Amino acid sequence: MSLSTVAQDIKLPEPDKKGGVPLMQAFNDRASSREYDSRKLTDEQLSNLLWAAWGINRAQEGKHTAPSSNNKQEMSVYVALESGLYLYVPESHYLKQIHNRDIRKVTGMQDFVEIAPVNLIFVSDLTKAGITDPAKAGPGSLNTSSINTGFMAQNVYLYCASEKLACVVRGWLDIPELSKAMELAPHQRIIIAQTVGYPKK
Ligand SMILES: Cc1cc2nc3c(=O)[nH]c(=O)nc-3n(C[C@H](O)[C@H](O)[C@H](O)COP(=O)(O)O)c2cc1C
Repeated sequence: MSLSTVAQDIKLPEPDKKGGVPLMQAFNDRASSREYDSRKLTDEQLSNLLWAAWGINRAQEGKHTAPSSNNKQEMSVYVALESGLYLYVPESHYLKQIHNRDIRKVTGMQDFVEIAPVNLIFVSDLTKAGITDPAKAGPGSLNTSSINTGFMAQNVYLYCASEKLACVVRGWLDIPELSKAMELAPHQRIIIAQTVGYPKK
């Protein structure tokens, strides 16, 4: 089934919060993979994946499936698909299209990134993290955002383990080139990327 679209945005189905293998089995099966099939994820898988990464799990408090230091919630998850680049909007659980170019190849330095159907890019908003002038961001400015991202990436790994999907978190990136391809503002900083797809047969 193809993704249902509203304009160029993608409306995701409700996440299935009752599914999955037992947690201990997911820990047992979590692994990094570097060989991918080009087959696309289903709507439901993409929905569940993004909800696991950074979905809202306590609507009244506006809180997420992953923690964030001081609840600053400065992280965003971008999604590079064949059909374009999208921003995951957790509040309404949909994908807002940023542009319609396929930038999967630019999301990393390894060949599989353009074969796999999904590449997530975790981005910190320095302003939300309390740094008002991006030019003054020092080397330690992204420390808490990096830790926050670790939780999100692990949620993705565990969802993939449960769903028998292949996954790898990736720091080997050309950050300036990718920031340009994503049309990021100076206060938005890439932390890491993560590839998801079906394992190569
Ligand atoms: C911060 C971080 C950055 C990583 N960057 C890459 C990367 O750029 N490319 C890659 O193939 N794997 C990358 N990995 C995956 C590690 O190589 C992998 O976790 C490690 O080899 C252990 O394998 P496992 O995840 O299957 O346990 C990264 C892992 C972490 C935690």
